[in-house]
This record gives sequence, C-alpha cells and structure tokens, in this order.
Amino acid sequence: MNIGELEALLQDMTIEEKIHQLLQVNSSFYQTQGVLTGPQDTDRFSVRQLELAGSLLGTVGAGNLRKFQDIYLGTQPNKIPMMFMADIINGYKTVFPIPLGQGATFNPGLSKECACATAKESAASGIHVTFSPMVDLVRDARWGRVMESTGEDVYLNSCFAKAMVEGYQGEQVSEKGRIAACVKHFAAYGVPMAGREYNFSELSERSLREDYLLSYQAAIEAGVKLVMTAFQTLDRIPCSGNKKLMRETLRNEMGFQGVLISDWRAIYEMISHGFAENEKEAAKLALEAGVDIDMMSDIYVNQLTELIESGEVEESLLDEAVRRILMLKNELGLFENPYKDGSEEDEEALFLCEAHRSLARKAAGESFVLLKNEGILPLKKNEKTAFLGPYINDKNIVGSWTIFADEDHCVSIKEGVLNKVSSEYAVFSEGCNLLDPGTRFAGFRGIVDSSLQPNYSVHEEEALSMAASCENVVLCLGEHRQRSGEGGSIAEITLPVAQIEFLKKVTAVNPNVAVVLFNGRPLDLREVNQYAKAILIVWFPGSEGGNAIADVLYGDQIPSGRLPMSFPFCTGQIPVFYSEFSTGRPFVNQTDTRFASKYLDIQNEPLYPFGYGLTYTEFSYGKPEVSEESLTADAPLQLKVKVHNTGSCDAVETVQLYIQDMFASVVRPVRELKAFKKVEIKAGNSVTVEFEITEEMLRYYGIDMVYKSEAGWFTAYVGGDSRTKNSVRFQLV
Ligand code: BGC
Repeated sequence: MNIGELEALLQDMTIEEKIHQLLQVNSSFYQTQGVLTGPQDTDRFSVRQLELAGSLLGTVGAGNLRKFQDIYLGTQPNKIPMMFMADIINGYKTVFPIPLGQGATFNPGLSKECACATAKESAASGIHVTFSPMVDLVRDARWGRVMESTGEDVYLNSCFAKAMVEGYQGEQVSEKGRIAACVKHFAAYGVPMAGREYNFSELSERSLREDYLLSYQAAIEAGVKLVMTAFQTLDRIPCSGNKKLMRETLRNEMGFQGVLISDWRAIYEMISHGFAENEKEAAKLALEAGVDIDMMSDIYVNQLTELIESGEVEESLLDEAVRRILMLKNELGLFENPYKDGSEEDEEALFLCEAHRSLARKAAGESFVLLKNEGILPLKKNEKTAFLGPYINDKNIVGSWTIFADEDHCVSIKEGVLNKVSSEYAVFSEGCNLLDPGTRFAGFRGIVDSSLQPNYSVHEEEALSMAASCENVVLCLGEHRQRSGEGGSIAEITLPVAQIEFLKKVTAVNPNVAVVLFNGRPLDLREVNQYAKAILIVWFPGSEGGNAIADVLYGDQIPSGRLPMSFPFCTGQIPVFYSEFSTGRPFVNQTDTRFASKYLDIQNEPLYPFGYGLTYTEFSYGKPEVSEESLTADAPLQLKVKVHNTGSCDAVETVQLYIQDMFASVVRPVRELKAFKKVEIKAGNSVTVEFEITEEMLRYYGIDMVYKSEAGWFTAYVGGDSRTKNSVRFQLV
C-alpha cells in the first residue's frame, strides 16, 4: 500500500474503528490459549471491542493465528489485519542464553545471529512483533529483570541493542523470516529504587542522558520499529503519561518515528500512581504523550470517543497514532499477506533445527564466565568426576521469560556430560534441594513452593560418598529460574542456605570442587569463592545448556565470557559498578584512615568486576602505544597493544579499551568502556590489537548539557577487565 492509499484508508475509518486500532489485548479474552504476563480482569472488554482490537499479544502458532486472522478479517469494516505480538526474548523454540548471558559473550555479532534465528522461528509461527530487546541499563542485582538486560555498561548495551534489532528486523521487516523489534522500557526502567520491582526511578537529567538513553538511541538508529513505555515514574512522572519524555526526548531529539506501545496496563496504572485522577484523564495524558497502543487496558477504547467528541482531545492526535499503527502493518506487508510468514511446514523445519541448536550451543558456551580456577578445569575425560547438585538433571534452564519453549527439548547437564564421556567416568546424584524449606513465591505460571519440589536431600549420603570416591566434583548450584525475571526482586542476593551447606559438606570430603552456577543476576559468592576451587557462571544457558557446559568443563570449548555486570561483594554494596566517579576523598589503601570514601566492614571493590573472566590459559599485555600524543576532531589516533598468550592452549581474549577524561567541566567517570575486541591467540603467540580513538568517543554532557568533547588530557586503559592499570595518556586538541 502506498502512502496515498494509507491516508485514504485512514479517512474511511470511523472514530470507533480508529480507536480500536489502539487496543491491544491478550488472547485469553477470546477463549484461546495464551500466556498471561500481568494482571487481568476477565470480563473487561465487550464482544464488539474484542472484534475490533488492532493487535493481540501472547498467542503463537501458524495454524492458530491463521484461523484467528481469518475470523477477525471477516468482521473488519476496512479489512485491516490484526498484528500479532509476543514476548520472544532469548529465543522462541530454540532457546539461547538469557540476555545477561549474551552480554557476557562480549560478542554482539553472535546475538545478532541468535535474534535472526529467533525471528525465523517466530515468524514461521505467525508472529509479527517481538517485545525485545530490553536495553535498560542495570546496576542493581536485587532487581529480577537484570537477566533481561545485557548489563551495567552503556557502550556494551548499545552494541547489543543495535545487533539484536538488526538480527530481528534485517533490512526490511516485510522480508520472510523477519519480525519487528520493540525496544523497552522507555525510559530508565532498570533503576527502580532499592531494586524493588515497579518502584520509582530518580536520576539526574545528565545521568539519564549519558548513561541510560544511549542504548535506546542505538536501537532507534538501527531502525527499531516500536518502543515500549516503562511502568515506573521517572522524575516523579509515570513514563506512559510523560509528554516531554515521549514527544520531546524520544521523538524530537532521538528521532523515533515508529509505534509507541504502553507496557501492560501502564496507562490505567497512572491512576494508582496518583497522576491521573480517573480513566478519562489517563487516556488524555497518554494520548497527548504520544502513546499509540494501549496494551491490556480499556482506557483508550472506553474514553477516547467522548474526549474527542467533547473537543478535549483533538482527533488529529488519534489519527497520528492510527497512522503509525497502519504504517507498521503496512511495513510488515500485512495488507498484502495478513498471515505474513506463518506456516506449519516452516515451523516443522525450523523449530530446534540443527543449525539453530548448534548456534545455541555456541552462544551458551561463549556466555559462560570462569571466575575462578585453581587447577581443576578443564576436567580430564579419563578421570572420574561426581556431578552433584539440584541442577544436574534439570531441564528448566531457559530463564523465566522463555514462555513458549518446551523445556523437554533442553539438554540437561547429565545428558551433556554423557554425550561426551562414558558413564565409567561420570557419576550423578543431586544430593541437595534447589529451594530452602519454607520458600514460596509466585512464578509466571503458578506458585513456586519448596514443599512441592522433589526432595533430593534424601540422597545426600549417596552424593557425599560419590564425591569422596571421585577425583573431582562438579557441583551444579543456582537460583530457581523463576527467582529472577519480572517481579523477581530480592533483598539478599545469596544462594539458598541448603545449597551452601551442601557445598561445605562436599568440600569436606573432596576439596576438588568446581561449582557450576545457574543464575539470572549477580550473586553474593563469598562462600562459594571460599570453598570451591573453580566457579563457572552459566546463567540460564538455554536449549543446548548441558552440551555447552560439558564442552567447557572438558575443554572442548575454551571459556571466554566476561562479566557484563559487577558481582558485588555483598548485597549492601549495591549498586556497585566500574564506571563510578572519583570522590574528593578516594580510598587508596590507607587502612587506618577514617575519613576516606570506604566502608568500615567491607572492601570497596566488588568480588568480581565488570569485564572479568578467566580462561584455560593466561595472557600478558605489553604497554599500549598511541600513534600520536594528540588527536583532533578530524584526525583520530591509533592505539596499539601487544597481547601474549603465555599458556599452553589456544584461547580467545577480550581486549577492552577504557578511557578516563582527566579533568572536565563536570566530574567524569573513573573510566568508561569505549571499545573491545575478541581475538583468538594461539598458545605461546602474540597478537597486536589496534583501536582507533576518535573525538566522538570522548563526548559527554558538559556543564551546559551539550553533548560534546572538551580539549584536554585523557588516559586510555587497555586490558582484560575493568580494573586494568595498563595505560597510556593522550590529548585532545
Ligand atoms: C513487561 C513487558 C512485557 C509485557 C508483555 C510486561 O509486564 O514489563 O516487558 O513485554 O508485559 O508481556
């Protein structure tokens, strides 16, 4: 359809029809199967409203959605097709590592491939739009949704935001196997006060712009088709009714021209915030803010007619929203083919196909972070190892948001290990429960309750005697997968007590313990660190988790993941992140000084910093060298560093470049990640890695709130994690 035809269609539509294009509902209202990801009042909508609703969320399946579309089109006055959206976060049927794990790969290209495979599978299932990527910057591990982000760093997040959008959307969303992406949650949803879900965000304008908005900006520049509003208040205004944020910042300044969708019932929730007095005001505020789609509330459909008829809201605002929705449907090619790529045959061919499985195995392997290794890993295939802990047989290793995947298709650790070594050399017993007694919380689908879990502790003795009789122990511990994700805030980022007690008992009979840790967030690992000789973070690795874990444990894949979020020393240290600011009284090891910026009871440093991760070899760095001492806006400089693999196996190093602006018109972070490169270096060899430093990399919001660079001195740090001291100075003139 061309623009003229689209405008003509808009002119033909009645107000009723137009308003209903703005409504998005869940399939449960239509008595078909769907997944609920928020609260719902079942008899909220009339039959007529449901007949006319412009989009649907949470239902999948080529056959299912074709039938749905046919029935729907049968009642549409202007034959406008329905748009199908869903939360397809880290994979659809083939599941890739959770986004935080993907962040740990420091390999956005790989995430692009994962998003591309995800788009193919879900497009085959009739889906048009995914509510992904979530690019919210996260620095508070108490918040459950850190698992949906790629971490604490704005540059890393921006690289992943761009890659994921490109992976889903390709060149054109109308192409076969492509879906539209929706970046979320605008803005600064990742910084709820005290880590408590849906709580308010308070940020300075400078911090919002410099730390939080840039990853959404990267998604917009990559052409993302939709943006989702955040639930919470930012600067005390609910985002879904914040006209300045949405119209001035998002649309005018950041250049977003696509569809703005509210989060689940967020327009309605402005009443609970005490921001809108009633439903009518909520509708007016949201439409004036430029929110096009009302997800899961009846505010627009029940209020807009009267608001427009009374002249309180201009019809042109409604037209603007409808136009954007029609344009998206048009870009997806739905007017020509309302089913888009939905095809049972393609579903059959693509779901969990060989290519997607091997991509999932590669991505999972790359996402694992080796935090500690005192000579245990890699395991030898001809030495006997006891695999213990609640996760050895668990296939629930996909993370809380993977709502359409069937965990039966996941590879467990036991299966993965036995695919590699004979049962003579690998024995298995859980010996310990996942949840502590008395644990009970609501999950996505029903209640998680410790009294309902299998009781593995009855096999504790058997497990301990296995541990004693083996060369090594791999202890598979972690969080319940529903403990992180939406609504998964916790006040103590610790492992269940029973798991720690079991770890202690195991190490008492065999000290050669490697802990494999499943987690959706950074955890307080002090005790694990104390007792285990090795720690491998595997996040929630997805469909091929067990195979990928076995690959890394036995050295068939060399670990290369790096922490995308600092692992705090303890909960009280939160938020802790590497790009902090210098205080006037920095703490520099003067232990007997009171008047320094420090804690009396714990260290300032996190237990493991951002960018950290070991492998099965070691690297040493030469001193970085710059091609010139100074750069200008027109003449960037080159920085070179020689990296040497000093060990005996080939491996991949993630070379990280951080820059510190030494003096500026406002205080700058002690360092900021500006570039990184993953390089493969053969054992005993060296590689020279080059980075270009441009003036653009040095820009920030100065005292006048203008995003620009300032002449002066900078320090570039180059190394294997955010603590590196390996540095060189240069100047911007
Ligand atoms: C979440 C969104 C999600 C939406 C639809 C909300 O509760 O915050 O991230 O896309 O539900 O399921």
